[in-house]
Amino acid sequence: MLKYLITGCAGFIGFHLSQDILKKGSMVIGFDNLNYYYDVDLKKSRLSQLNVYKNFKFHQLDLTDQQSILELCTHHNFDYVIHLAAQAGVRYSLENPHAYVDSNLVGFINILEGCRHGKVKHLVYASSSSVYGANQKIPFSTQDNVDHPISLYAATKKANELMAYTYSHLYKIPTTGLRFFTVYGPWGRPDMAYFLFTKAIIKGKPIKVFNHGKMKRDFTYIDDIVEGIVRVSEKIPQGSELNNNVPAKVYNIGNNQPVELMTFIEVLENCIGKKAIKEFLPMQPGDVPMTYADIDDLINDVGFSPRTSIEEGLDKFVQWYKSFYL
Ligand SMILES: NC(=O)c1ccc[n+]([C@@H]2O[C@H](COP(=O)([O-])OP(=O)(O)OC[C@H]3O[C@@H](n4cnc5c(N)ncnc54)[C@H](O)[C@@H]3O)[C@@H](O)[C@H]2O)c1
Repeated sequence: MLKYLITGCAGFIGFHLSQDILKKGSMVIGFDNLNYYYDVDLKKSRLSQLNVYKNFKFHQLDLTDQQSILELCTHHNFDYVIHLAAQAGVRYSLENPHAYVDSNLVGFINILEGCRHGKVKHLVYASSSSVYGANQKIPFSTQDNVDHPISLYAATKKANELMAYTYSHLYKIPTTGLRFFTVYGPWGRPDMAYFLFTKAIIKGKPIKVFNHGKMKRDFTYIDDIVEGIVRVSEKIPQGSELNNNVPAKVYNIGNNQPVELMTFIEVLENCIGKKAIKEFLPMQPGDVPMTYADIDDLINDVGFSPRTSIEEGLDKFVQWYKSFYL
C-alpha cells in the first residue's frame, strides 16, 4: 500500500487531496498545526471528514518542529510527500512577515531534511502563481523570469523552488513544485475573495472590489487541482543530461482561462441569486492585476488540463457554503 505524507491536511487543498487519496485506498499520514489564521472550526470540520477513514492518521504538528518531522519521515519512509502546509495569503504577509519565514522557510527546510533522511520517492510541494509578480508577458510560463516577487509570500514560494532544486541536486531527491493559480471550491479558504464575497452578498453587506474591478484571475477549481497533484506526483522527475542530472521540476496548474473580476462577481451573484453591493477601491500593495497560466508542460507531461468552468465551480461552492453555514 502506498504511503503518503500530506502536510496541511486540515487546510483547503490538503483536505481535498487527502480525501481523494484515502478513497483510492492508499495510506495517508497527515499533519497540520491547526493555527488561527482563519476559522479553526472549519479546519476541524474538514479533519472530522478525514477521520472516518481507517487508512488516515493525523498528527497535530508544527512545521518548525524539526525533530518531530525528522522522526516522522524516518519512521515511515513515505513513498510520496505532498507538502501543502504553509502560511498562505499575500495581504497578511505585509502584517505578519515572521509567520511566513517560520512556516514557509524554516518549515520547508525541515521538510527537505525529512525527505532526505526518510528517502522519499518524490516530494511535491505547493508554490504559487504569485511568483510571477507583476510580469507583463502572458500567459505566465515556467520559463519566464521570476526574480521580482512583490510580496514576501511570493518571495518565500520562489525560495522554496530554489531550496528544492538544491536538494534535488545535492541528494538526488526528486522534487516537483506546483504553482497553483487562485484555487476555489467547497470547503474553501475564508480569507479569499470569493469566500468573503459570498458571505457579504448573502448578508447584504458591501464587497470590496480592488483595483476598481480591473483585475483578471485564472480561477482554478479544487477538483482540477487535486487531479493535477495526483497525476504529477506519479510522474517522478528523472535526472538526465538535459537537466544537469537534477530531478527537479516546476509546473503551473491553472485554468488557462483568465476571467475578469467583474464577470466572476456576476457569475457569483447568479449562483447566490442576489446582487452584490460593490465598494470600488484602489489596488492593494502586493497584489497583482492579472494571472494567466501557461500549462503546456502539464498537458505534455501528465496529459491533464483543468476543465471546470467558473459557472459550474462557483455553483458547487455556493451550494456547499449554504449547506455549511446557513
Ligand atoms: N488556495 C490557493 O489559491 C493557493 C494558491 C497558490 C498557492 N497555494 C498554496 O497551496 C498550499 C495550500 O493552500 P490552501 O489554500 O489549502 O491553504 P490553507 O491555509 O487552507 O492550508 C494550509 C494548512 O497549513 C497549515 N499550516 C500553516 N502553517 C503551518 C505550520 N507552521 N505547521 C503546520 N501546519 C501549518 C494550516 O493550519 C492550514 O490548515 C499552501 O502552500 C499555499 O501557499 C494556495
